[in-house]
Amino acid sequence: MFEPENPFTPGFGDTPSTLAGRDDVLGRIDKAMQRPRHPDRTLGLIGGRGIGKTAVLNAAEAAAHGRGWAVLSVTARRGGRLVDSLIQMALTPANWPEAWQEPAVRAGYSARSPADPAARSPGNLRYSQMGATLLSAMTDLAELAASHGAGVLITVDELQGMNDEDAEDFAATVQHIIRRERRSLMFLGAGLPVVERTLFADEDLTFFQRCRRIVLQPLDSAEVEYAITAAIEEASSSIGEDAVDAVVQEASGYPFMVQLIGFHAWEASADPAGGITAADVDEGIIQARAEMGQLFIQPAWNGLSAGAQRYLQAMTLDQGDSSTSVVAQRLDKSPSCAAHYRQELIDEGLAVSAGYGKVRFAHSALPHWLRGNPALPPPPDVGTTPAAAGRPIVRPEIEVALRADPLINAAALAAELGVTASYIRQVRQAMYGKR
Ligand SMILES: Nc1ncnc2c1ncn2[C@@H]1O[C@H](COP(=O)(O)OP(=O)(O)O)[C@@H](O)[C@H]1O
Ligand SMILES: [Mg+2]
Repeated sequence: MFEPENPFTPGFGDTPSTLAGRDDVLGRIDKAMQRPRHPDRTLGLIGGRGIGKTAVLNAAEAAAHGRGWAVLSVTARRGGRLVDSLIQMALTPANWPEAWQEPAVRAGYSARSPADPAARSPGNLRYSQMGATLLSAMTDLAELAASHGAGVLITVDELQGMNDEDAEDFAATVQHIIRRERRSLMFLGAGLPVVERTLFADEDLTFFQRCRRIVLQPLDSAEVEYAITAAIEEASSSIGEDAVDAVVQEASGYPFMVQLIGFHAWEASADPAGGITAADVDEGIIQARAEMGQLFIQPAWNGLSAGAQRYLQAMTLDQGDSSTSVVAQRLDKSPSCAAHYRQELIDEGLAVSAGYGKVRFAHSALPHWLRGNPALPPPPDVGTTPAAAGRPIVRPEIEVALRADPLINAAALAAELGVTASYIRQVRQAMYGKR
């Protein structure tokens, strides 16, 4: 039997078979490639993990290749040496478009000037002895590009991992080449929201300060629908409306979740070529939630300060957006102290501001995981009534009772414990979600 391949790509950095909802961003990037003076020539993509930053970088790189540009693509890793790898890449003819390589090879490696493309090769000892700097390597490459009527795209992923030394060198060099010398170079970076307060706000790094930024937004319903149906149809299968709705509902616009659900629904199907059913999607959602927990939420959780962890938990007591002052109260912290934790969550892309004094989860899988995770301590809270003022640790007792019987009569339990029934219901909702 013909078994079509699963069209979903649930891995960080994987290029999706259909890139949904990013036409505007890619349109801007494409326009910038056509116009050397365009302000988007230096552009940063901002967003939490899994929102699709690397996917956009990949698409932009493909577009640049299509235009006959050279593409230098690096990822800033802590402890890595980004500038060195960029120099190395710029000097390696294999990284240039083919049309540029041949003349260089034909000219032979006998050329003596490092400015001569023929001399550029990692194997060319003479050249490396001369010590290429980022500035010399980029200038030469931009010159070479210009001679072919093309340009150079530099992409830097995981900008938040760039060390100071690399950032300074990179900023000074690229600033000089793009803004001062007006050469055909384009910079496209991607990073977590924290870079808005660090790299892009650093007064000593005016290059980054002056970069345009795009905050990547979650996909809207139509875009999720497109992402899921187009991928399935491209694999010569189909999916019903109900099943699509379930994906839209669960994914809340988060591309990584779309891929996870799609992937697992496809795997769950007995005959994926015959169509993906609502039951397949239901199964896919269960698997996707579990994997979101393992691959994404747990590692993110482990990286948070204890205060930020408590802040997230305190947010689970709300169904919609949380009020920052109420959360501060629940944590028994001053607003300014609580704001610190909130900022940490926003930096990491786990929470987003929902307007003045409001905050919300960046993704609905987070509260799901937090509420359903028995390994976590109960969320902090001040939901007790005055009558229970003398018994501040009432919440664990409620949780124990609810765990024994999730449908327990709220009013009766409230009377027994000296709290309000609505508080019991709130805890129940926090533990089990809407029922
Ligand atoms: N616009 C999109 N439409 C569909 N799937 C996407 C889209 N953007 C990203 N994805 C998928 O989502 C997952 C996460 O994307 P990625 O680019 O790695 O996120 P980030 O770099 O922001 O962490 C990948 O599996 C990718 O294939
Ligand atoms: Mg990425």
